[in-house]
Amino acid sequence: MIKLRHVDKQYAEHHALVDVSVDFPEHQTTVILGPSGAGKSTLLRSINLLERPQQGTMELNNLKINFAQQLSTKQVLAARRQTAMVFQSWNLFPHLTVLQNITEGPRYVLKQSAAEAQQRAHDLLKQVGLDETANRYPRQLSGGQQQRISICRALAMNPSYLLFDEPTSALDPELEAQVLRVLQQLANEQHSMIVVTHNMEFARRVADRLLFVEDGRIEFNGSSDEFFNHPTERIKAFLAAMKF
Ligand SMILES: Nc1ncnc2c1ncn2[C@@H]1O[C@H](COP(=O)(O)OP(=O)(O)OP(=O)(O)O)[C@@H](O)[C@H]1O
Ligand SMILES: [Mg+2]
Repeated sequence: MIKLRHVDKQYAEHHALVDVSVDFPEHQTTVILGPSGAGKSTLLRSINLLERPQQGTMELNNLKINFAQQLSTKQVLAARRQTAMVFQSWNLFPHLTVLQNITEGPRYVLKQSAAEAQQRAHDLLKQVGLDETANRYPRQLSGGQQQRISICRALAMNPSYLLFDEPTSALDPELEAQVLRVLQQLANEQHSMIVVTHNMEFARRVADRLLFVEDGRIEFNGSSDEFFNHPTERIKAFLAAMKF
């Protein structure tokens, strides 16, 4: 379980998260929606400690963090180990093969043997239909393939939460669909996921819960049915703006 309480993040000029309290239950997919600049990435990056809010607390399974205090390296590593982030532009290591990209973390951080890490990498690659690419380099793959491999790399670390920040927004529609199908499969397997996306169809079909963020505040926290079928006036306007 991830529990945020009274989390506040102020950039020099901008109040990005305003007293945010929210839970992210395990084995559910929470989709975060909201206009550009709302604070969605800041929220996700705070969970992974890529951003440091100035106030508030986070419970991440057994780890307790008080953002008002200096965090120890141990806390940061513990938080990173339990949350794996997949970014908008896939960031595979260009000088490593697909297999090496996936096995690097498990071998050196989780201390798995080469054989164990490679076996798991092949299993994950099979799941996303890319086992034949194991010995290629990232530049020899499409963006959609690279993003699916980034997902394998995140999964190989056995995180308790997978965090996705607009994982498909840099992709063509066909490649986007390939990646979204992998996310849907992970959701069906009841991984714990938090997904920031602008893809409304994905949100509608896959989200167990939806958050709507605006001006650093969580303005809606509820079911996908409630969000899409019984929207407030503000959400209606947002949904209308997302259409042509
Ligand atoms: N490093 C930073 N320094 C200063 N301001 C920042 C920084 N990062 C984000 N902001 C500001 O904080 C606000 C929230 O940014 P954030 O990236 O969380 O929005 P977002 O909801 O992810 O938007 P988008 O949908 O465009 O990705 C924005 O107004 C942004 O300009
Ligand atoms: Mg963002």
